[in-house]
Amino acid sequence: MLSKEAPIGVFDSGIGGLTVVREIMRQIPNEKIVYFGDTARVPYGSKSKETVTRFSRQIVHFLESHNVKTIVVACNTASAYALNELEKEIDIPIIGVVKPGAKAAFQTTKNGKIGVIATEATINSKIYSQYIKELSPDMTVIGKACPLFVPLVEEGLLQDPVTDEIARRYLTELIDLDIDTLILGCTHYPLIRSTVAKIMGEKVTLVNPAYETARELKEMLTAKGLLQMEAPGLGSNQYQFYVSDTTDKFIRFANSIIKYGILSAKQVNIEEY
Ligand code: DGL
Repeated sequence: MLSKEAPIGVFDSGIGGLTVVREIMRQIPNEKIVYFGDTARVPYGSKSKETVTRFSRQIVHFLESHNVKTIVVACNTASAYALNELEKEIDIPIIGVVKPGAKAAFQTTKNGKIGVIATEATINSKIYSQYIKELSPDMTVIGKACPLFVPLVEEGLLQDPVTDEIARRYLTELIDLDIDTLILGCTHYPLIRSTVAKIMGEKVTLVNPAYETARELKEMLTAKGLLQMEAPGLGSNQYQFYVSDTTDKFIRFANSIIKYGILSAKQVNIEEY
């Protein structure tokens, strides 16, 4: 029997999933969170389906060892490649970021032309297109892999002429194809949202799957009677962060994304799970 008091498990290939954590903290502030960032094995976006699934399975086992009540796959690549498999293997609810993002884009578009920017793996999987076309086969979905965005964000070049130039090169073809909605299909991309918005212009609405995922998570927990209504007591260790590589860079980065004040993270050997 799952308990309301149990934490929510959230994972990503590294730091990008913190944009999802940030939304969960905002939308359902009473929840406890156990976050795992696979900083030793990032990036997932250039790896095979088999590898991403194996890594994701280990992380799910790790989160289950913390008795989480649900798992959020806060990584588009892992949602695209591993979620279907993982769903079959575990007893607790598990949600990814792709379906909520696809649904929001479908609800947003007026001209039926939706762009998706993401890692190579997510684009090659065609998962966004698949979900959107399930909602309506008339939609046109145009994917564009933007592999340099993740290292640019990880280097902290969020507002930088180099990022502007690279974004312009990636995005020009989407502008030419007259999309009116663009999915930020990688958890790092909300951090360069203003750059993308500037280049795409006012006529294009950006969809952030992190926001939509937190909304869907809240709905799901409410429907299952698992939403935590009371704030956890002082000293309850509400937010716990784990990574597979050293913690210093992660803590610095986490504090630049989340204003909560992350003082510590623990390194774990994820290969043991
Ligand atoms: N977090 C990943 C995603 O959302 C991007 C980083 C990576 O390639 O691992 O797809």
